[in-house]
Amino acid sequence: MTDSLITHWDKDKRAAFRKTPMVWNHTLHKLPLFDDAALAELIDKHPRDLADFCTMDDGADNMASWKGGDPGTHSGAELLAAVRTGKLWINLRETFNIHAPYSAALNAVMAELKHHNPGFNPVSVRGGLLISSPAASVPFHIDRTDVLLWHLRGHKRVWVYPLDEEVLPEVEVEEILLHAHNDDVPYKASFEDKATIYDLEPGMAATWPLHAPHRVVNQGDLNVSITVEYAPFSTIVQNGAMITNGIMRRRLGLDPQIEKQGRINRLMRFAASRVLRKMDLVKAKAASKSGYLFTIDPEAKNAVSGI
Ligand SMILES: [Fe+2]
Repeated sequence: MTDSLITHWDKDKRAAFRKTPMVWNHTLHKLPLFDDAALAELIDKHPRDLADFCTMDDGADNMASWKGGDPGTHSGAELLAAVRTGKLWINLRETFNIHAPYSAALNAVMAELKHHNPGFNPVSVRGGLLISSPAASVPFHIDRTDVLLWHLRGHKRVWVYPLDEEVLPEVEVEEILLHAHNDDVPYKASFEDKATIYDLEPGMAATWPLHAPHRVVNQGDLNVSITVEYAPFSTIVQNGAMITNGIMRRRLGLDPQIEKQGRINRLMRFAASRVLRKMDLVKAKAASKSGYLFTIDPEAKNAVSGI
C-alpha cells in the first residue's frame, strides 16, 4: 500500500483531533475487503465468540432495547442477507487484529494517523467491523475508550453531543466507568440543539472527544464501518482517575473535578483506582448480559424471532 489511505490532513485537523468532533476523508472503502462476497466469507470464518449479533428498537434514548441474538447455523451469506432485510447490527470484534489483510489495512491507516498527529500514540488498538441494517440505529451512549469510525458502505447520520454539565455531568460519566455493564446514559430531547450532525458517506471517517455522547441512525441502506477503539495512556489514566473521583464522591461526599486535576494528580488517582479495583469497590451494576435474547431468522419480521 503505497498510496495514502487518508486523503487530506492539515493543521486545522491536527488541532481538532480528539478535542472536538470532526470528520475527514479516506480510501479504505476502495480496498477489496468489504464487498458482499468478502463480508460473507469473513462472517463465516470469524470466531463466533468475537461476534455480536444484535437488534434494537427505534428511539434516541432506547439503549435498554439493545439485545444480543443467536446467529444459529446460518452461513455468512445468509446472515448478510438477513442484515440487508432485517433490523440487525453485527460487530465482528477484532476483525482488524486477527485477519491478516484487515490488520494490514488498520496498521497502515493508523501509521498515517500517527504521522499526521505527532505525539498521538494509541495503545490497545482494536478494530471491529460493523455491518448493520438499513433501519438500524444506535441510541444515545458513550464509549469508555476513544473511538475512530471509518465509514465504508451505505449512509448513516451521526449526532455528537458536547460533554457538558447539562448533557452529561461528570458524575454520570463516573457512574458508567464504575459499573462495567452500565450503559444507561440519560437522554433529553433538548440536547438536540447542541448536537453536531454528520452525514457519513463511504470514504468518510469521524471521531470526537473521549466520552462525548453520540448516537447513530442508518439512512436506508446496508451500512459497513470500521470501529476502532483505542486508549492512549492519557485515557487510561483519566478513566482511572475518574473511577477514584467517583468513589471519593460517593463514599466521602467530596466533589472532585477531573478538568481541574493536573497530570500528577490524575496519575495518583489512576494508581489509587488500581488499588480500589483490587478491593472490589468497582463493581458490575448488573450481571453480565450473557445468553441470547432472540434468534436470527431471515424469514421473520426484522429477521428477528423469539422476542
Ligand atoms: Fe459509540
